[in-house]
Amino acid sequence: MSCNYKEEYYKIVHDILKSEEFQKRKKYKHHGDITVYEHSLKVSKIAYLLARKFNKDYKSAAIGGLLHDFYSKPWQEETEKKPFFKKHGFVHAREAMENANKYFPELMNKKIDNIILRHMFPLNKIPPRYIESWFVTLADKYVSMEVFLQPTKLPMLIGIHKKVKGE
Ligand SMILES: [Fe+2]
Ligand SMILES: [Fe+2]
Repeated sequence: MSCNYKEEYYKIVHDILKSEEFQKRKKYKHHGDITVYEHSLKVSKIAYLLARKFNKDYKSAAIGGLLHDFYSKPWQEETEKKPFFKKHGFVHAREAMENANKYFPELMNKKIDNIILRHMFPLNKIPPRYIESWFVTLADKYVSMEVFLQPTKLPMLIGIHKKVKGE
């Protein structure tokens, strides 16, 4: 990211990054060894740059990207058995949206709600409504692609498996 963009970007996301609640995501494992904090930051930066490039709402893209996986608990630690459609991959987007509104109400808007709620398309069937929502869902998939380099981790990507043998 160039210098100007970097400054602008960090101004937009500063309050979230520094907040106690978001800092906790440094301890949440996402896929493999990547934390939710690192993953969300990568997705947010890519979505921001895409929105910037296409003259779209880069602020909402940055915030939505950063909060798209702002669910409550590290999902790999869930022990309770759940029916298939209640598993992490299907429910965490709504939970993230609710948390985002709970912790950062002053930063939220309708577009960011949609960005977070629809980022798991096509796993969750309703497609994103705004171009910025598409930027985030694409950035999320792009960043998560590293999982494809290790195909045994694929089920983790959609949140239906907790651990891979031998990990
Ligand atoms: Fe997600
Ligand atoms: Fe994600």
